[in-house]
Amino acid sequence: MVQGTANWNTEETQEWLQQYVDDWVAFYRKHTGDGHVASYIPELKNADPDDLGIVIIGKDGMSVKSGDTEIPFTMQSISKAITFIVACMERGVSYLLQRVDVEPTGEAFNSIMHLEMKQVKKPLNPFNNAGAITVSSILPGDTSNERLEPVFQLLENMLGHRPAMNHDVFKSERDSSTRNRAIGYYLLEVGFLESDLDVTLETYFKQCSIDVTIDDLARIGMILANDGMDPKNDVEIIPRQIARITKVLMLTCGMYDASGKFATYVGIPAKSGVSGGILAAVPPRVRDESMPFTRGCGIGVYGPALGDEGNSVAGIRLLRHIATQWDLSIF
Ligand code: DON
Repeated sequence: MVQGTANWNTEETQEWLQQYVDDWVAFYRKHTGDGHVASYIPELKNADPDDLGIVIIGKDGMSVKSGDTEIPFTMQSISKAITFIVACMERGVSYLLQRVDVEPTGEAFNSIMHLEMKQVKKPLNPFNNAGAITVSSILPGDTSNERLEPVFQLLENMLGHRPAMNHDVFKSERDSSTRNRAIGYYLLEVGFLESDLDVTLETYFKQCSIDVTIDDLARIGMILANDGMDPKNDVEIIPRQIARITKVLMLTCGMYDASGKFATYVGIPAKSGVSGGILAAVPPRVRDESMPFTRGCGIGVYGPALGDEGNSVAGIRLLRHIATQWDLSIF
């Protein structure tokens, strides 16, 4: 258990925190062997399964980084949180929630079983593929690039730089997309899509292929933790209501069919992607001032070796350990 002081933002305590996090990353790196990199998108097979890194950025600017922190990787399903936010900002929250529900499915990310079995009136949430493809069809614009412009703009507003799209991953994803095309045709048939299927799928494949680092994810997480405000300049980047709903969805649906376990053992709103990234938003806590990051923080994790549910296997264990040590759970 970390013991200490309310003021963690001193050189001495920073060093101390750094040492802890370095030790934990070294320990959990051994767990990467329990997973496998995603192979159903051929380009993702090139990732190094031994990689593991974490960046934590506090509201006060304090940060801790450890392990493989510089490697760019594609957002994959983490982009679903961003396009949901943008669609809400562009079309309004009630418009979105009339078309996509906010219920967890307890099923794999690319399942449409619930759509057919339960004859639902709309996809159950925006973070499984059916819901995310529906959201991509709601983004305004006639081409995929037009639809993604506000997505890149929001990312630029949060990160201070415009991320790039990884064209190799985009092509690989597009050319191996039989399941997503099947989902798209099903959505078209039942009338859930708002616009042209081909443009919608191209938008979805491109959003999944935006390159980020864990520093970027930690920054996004910190802004979400801070209810959409950038603490650097007190500017609202995401309206509070949208930031709040996004965190609810992250907690209930962000880790797919492992969301319940993640909420139980980690207890932080988080969104994963099959490239091995995890975006986490830790809201401020008041219980124990002796813990670090009590004013809230964002966390980015990268570990491309995945467990059965498609989440970073070592990344989840590392987050669980840190959440326990620093009492980060929101519950
Ligand atoms: O739809 C797909 O197959 C991917 N582009 C995104 C899936 C994903 O990241 C699921 N996450 N764990």
